[in-house]
Order: sequence, then C-alpha cells, then structure tokens
Amino acid sequence: MRIIIYTGKGGVGKTTVSAATGVLCAELGYKTIVLSTDPAHSLSDSIGKKIGKNPVKVTDRLWAQEIDVTEELRINWDKIQGFIVKFLSYQGFDKFIAEEFAIFPGLEELFSLLKINEYYEKESYDVIIADCAPTANTIRMLSFPDIVSWYMEKFFPLERKLVKTIKPVAEKVVKFPLPSDDVYAQVEELYKKIEYTKKTLTNPKISSVRLVVNAEKMVIKESQRAYTYLNLFEFPVDLVIVNKVFPDEISDRYFKKWKFTQAKHIDTVREAFDPIPIKISFLHDDEITGLNKLLKFAQNLFKDEDPTKIYYYEKPMQIEERNGRYFLKLKMPIFTKKEVNIWIKNDE
Ligand SMILES: Nc1ncnc2c1ncn2[C@@H]1O[C@H](COP(=O)(O)OP(=O)(O)OP(=O)(O)O)[C@@H](O)[C@H]1O
Ligand SMILES: [Mg+2]
Repeated sequence: MRIIIYTGKGGVGKTTVSAATGVLCAELGYKTIVLSTDPAHSLSDSIGKKIGKNPVKVTDRLWAQEIDVTEELRINWDKIQGFIVKFLSYQGFDKFIAEEFAIFPGLEELFSLLKINEYYEKESYDVIIADCAPTANTIRMLSFPDIVSWYMEKFFPLERKLVKTIKPVAEKVVKFPLPSDDVYAQVEELYKKIEYTKKTLTNPKISSVRLVVNAEKMVIKESQRAYTYLNLFEFPVDLVIVNKVFPDEISDRYFKKWKFTQAKHIDTVREAFDPIPIKISFLHDDEITGLNKLLKFAQNLFKDEDPTKIYYYEKPMQIEERNGRYFLKLKMPIFTKKEVNIWIKNDE
C-alpha cells in the first residue's frame, strides 16, 4: 500500500497532479482513491464528475472523495469540544466565544490526516493520494499531531482513573467541571489515532510527500521552507514536480525572457532539493480537466514509470535532539565541513 501526499503553493497544479496520478494508478491496475483534504475542494472540477463527502466511484478502480471536515470534527472532537466549552463557560467566557476557542486552528486539517490513515488501516485501497491545501495549511496539518499532543497534555493532565475516583468529591471543591468518562474516551481515541497516523505518514516505505512547484522564485522559496518543515516533522519527501514549464516548441519572442527565467529557476530547484529527484511537467495548450486529459498529463509526467514507486528513501536533512540541544544534519556529499557556513534569519 502507498500513500502519496501532494502539496505546494496555491495554484501550482496540486489538484491536477493528484487527480492525474490517481487516474494513472487506476489505469495500471491499482485500486486507488484520491482524497481532497483542501477545504476549498476542486477535485470535482478537475475530474469532471461530482465528488462528495463519501468515496465516489469514478472508473473501475478509481475512487475520489472530498473530505467533509465538519463531519470529521464531529466524529473526533464533539465530546472534547463540549467539555472545553463547559470549562471555559465556568471561567466566565461567553458560550459563543468558548465554542470558537474549542476549535483550534489546524484541527480540521488534522482530521483529514486521520482519515487518510483510517483508509490505510482498513486496507481499503492499494494507493491513497491526498490533494492537500496550499503549503502553509499543509504544514500546519502535518505538524499538528505534535501540537495537539501538547495541548491535550495541558488540558487533560490527569489520569483518567484518578479523575474517576476523585471527580465526585473534587468537583464540589474545585468549582470547575472535570472531564467525564466519555470525554476521556474520546481523548484517548484521538491520541491513539494521531499516534498511528504519524507512524504511517512518517514511514518512507508507505508514505511520500511530493512537492509541486512552478519555475518561479516565490513558489520555490515557499517550497524550500515547506521542505525544511517536512524534514523537521520527519515526513519523507520523495519527489519534486516542476509544473507548467514552457515546452521547447514555444519560440515566440514574447516568451523568450520567461523561458530564460524558468530555465534559471529549474537549476535552482535542482540545487535546492538535490538529491531528491525532479520531474518536469510542461505547460499544456489548455487547462487539464477530465479523465482523458488527466491520464495524458500523468503519462507525460511519469513516462513509463510506476507513479507509486518510492523515488527517494533517505532523509537528506535531519534534526536531532541531544541533551536539550538541537542538531541539524545535512547530507552534502560534495562539500567539506570547512566550506559550509550557516545563517539564521528569523525562523529560517
Ligand atoms: N501543466 C499544466 N498545463 C496547463 N494547465 C495546467 C497545468 N497544470 C495545471 N494546470 C491548470 O492550472 C489550474 C490550476 O491547477 P490546480 O487546480 O491543479 O492547482 P492547485 O495547486 O490545486 O490550486 P489550489 O492551490 O487553488 O488548490 C487549473 O486550471 C489546471 O487545469
Ligand atoms: Mg487544488
């Protein structure tokens, strides 16, 4: 089983590449699902068929789904949310504000990740492809398992068993509600799901994150930052796709400068992401919607390769913690230590 997650800056072609990869995988005989985790879904428009919150069969071996975050939120968070609202109301918060507070930014995105893992554990498909929201949200989504654990430890620091014993007495004394058993059950369930999800998504034999970029400076910059974060949270990146590159046959004078700039940026991509393999996808003569165009797009992109292939295993950048200090390990085969300098600018 394979999980392939596509991310990148807004508009670079994530949905197109995700849908196209899905169509090709199904064509190659894999039972495939393309999941849209971007709340602003556009999978229906790309595939040319109405996709809903449940898996919709598109072809013999292809399914697609636009994850309904509200529903996922209800399944995974309703009891916890209820408790947080109750707790904050006791502290004098307006109920409406308390309800807003009880949903942290990034929570919806986290539940999309859990959904990916749910399909993985059920072994429902051979290949799961996730079309993610633009990079910033995806990063938040991928880092969320760590953040949510932190939050939960602050909110639910007491052992469930202990709370059960002391609750009847304690509540009379402490004057604020303590979580009931079903709240704890949901917390535990969520913890478990997060742990399994993280394990699955950081296993390079199962999961790969693929960055979609355009040959433009700002797009590349954002993807480089994303790449660092992905490494930081141990998500394996196995491929970079440079999309919408002008093909050779465009010789119009108007595009001459553009082609020059693109060539320069493609070199930057190669340097920045080396040794992660790079694939070039050309700008087609029309927008790419519908199954036929998607298949053609994927065949041009992957040639005769199997898109489920693991393109890269090793982590070229690793961050390790030793005795409370952080060590950044970079794989730079052609350099000696003396030749390397490091700068820190804000968070970069
Ligand atoms: N190589 C290409 N050649 C021509 N058109 C393309 C190519 N790649 C993508 N497109 C078109 O560009 C538009 C944006 O693509 P897409 O929706 O896949 O981007 P996205 O990264 O998913 O955007 P968003 O960030 O809004 O989700 C679509 O109309 C799509 O058909
Ligand atoms: Mg999209």
